[in-house]
Amino acid sequence: MNTFVELYNEENRDSAVMARAGEILKNGGLVAFPTETVYGLGGDALNPEASAKIYAAKGRPSDNPLIVHIADMEALKVLVSEVPEKARLLADCFWPGPLTMIMPKSEAVPYATTGGLDTVAVRMPSHPIAYELIRSSGIYIAAPSANTSGRPSPTTAQHVYEDLNGRIDMIIDSGKVDIGLESSIVDLTGDVPTILRPGYITKEMMEKVIGPVTIDRALLADREDPNLRPKAPGMKYKHYAPKGELIIVEGQRQAVADAVNELTEKNEAAGLKTAVIASEETLSLYRAACKVSIGSREHEESIAANLYDVLRQMDEMGAERIYSESFAGGSLGAAIMNRLLKAAGHHVLRLETQKDNV
Ligand code: TXA
Ligand code: MG
Repeated sequence: MNTFVELYNEENRDSAVMARAGEILKNGGLVAFPTETVYGLGGDALNPEASAKIYAAKGRPSDNPLIVHIADMEALKVLVSEVPEKARLLADCFWPGPLTMIMPKSEAVPYATTGGLDTVAVRMPSHPIAYELIRSSGIYIAAPSANTSGRPSPTTAQHVYEDLNGRIDMIIDSGKVDIGLESSIVDLTGDVPTILRPGYITKEMMEKVIGPVTIDRALLADREDPNLRPKAPGMKYKHYAPKGELIIVEGQRQAVADAVNELTEKNEAAGLKTAVIASEETLSLYRAACKVSIGSREHEESIAANLYDVLRQMDEMGAERIYSESFAGGSLGAAIMNRLLKAAGHHVLRLETQKDNV
């Protein structure tokens, strides 16, 4: 299959591109498109064959449900059998935006889209091009992140192309996305709303609107039972991991740099290509030949936005051992560390903790 890449953004709006994307989607084909979080791989959510194609293109296990993208609240009448009051309140505050809500599905939504579940994940993205695509195609767009299963989610059209060229009909290239981490997912089908995936919309932000919210215990690093299974099927899979072994090093900033420099020297002496992921502020403390700034601690949005690209760069460099600083502080810390810990298979080296930790 030939994958067409079309440049389309606020400055380059060729209506023929949107018309073609809409035709592809209506005919059961696949179009990758930008959202404010990451690029999505879109297909018609109400067409089981389109959903099957999405799983095939990504190499994704078919028990891992897809998120349905909508452009207005009317869509809920079609997709959801009952809209919980708390979902309405959250939608008022955070839609359109990087929040996905799990609700009971209607009969219109095929099990092929929900991975066999009786619930459906719905999100109204705020990216103008995503909005335009949903509106102009007139369909509800099922879209997982547009990466090959297991790889970091794509934050540029180039990432999508690397993973899915030849497997999908079209890629709409609108440049780098804004947030860079997938949406927060909250399940509203139980008594207490539960966060299944942390993201830009934090627990605290949700609690201000709807009261107490819990976090799926299986996501926490200090979970009491390591066999707990995450409630979002996708969260149980190994994800985002670079090919090299990634280790997160935590502690006082100079101690982290000293430990990493020592490890780097040993690895390099043993012929292992070693790379370091550090903040803008601390990059100069490291002696490794391969070191990459992930962004500034003064501006944690930059760390979130660059994380997946940096993980992809590790593979391009052929890094065999990778040391990363920890980025737990700030309101995006939970979302960033959730991804980074998964990428590292929860491998953390904790140095003696003192103040001024990094
Ligand atoms: O930001 C995002 O959410 C991006 C953009 C494209 O919108 N999409 C995305 O989709 O990250 P995906 O498929 O990569 O991740 C969807 C997650 C998976 O972990 C999946 O298991 C979970 O949502 N999920 C979907 N439907 C669910 C349901 N009914 N119950 C529980 N978890 C669900
Ligand atoms: Mg994904």
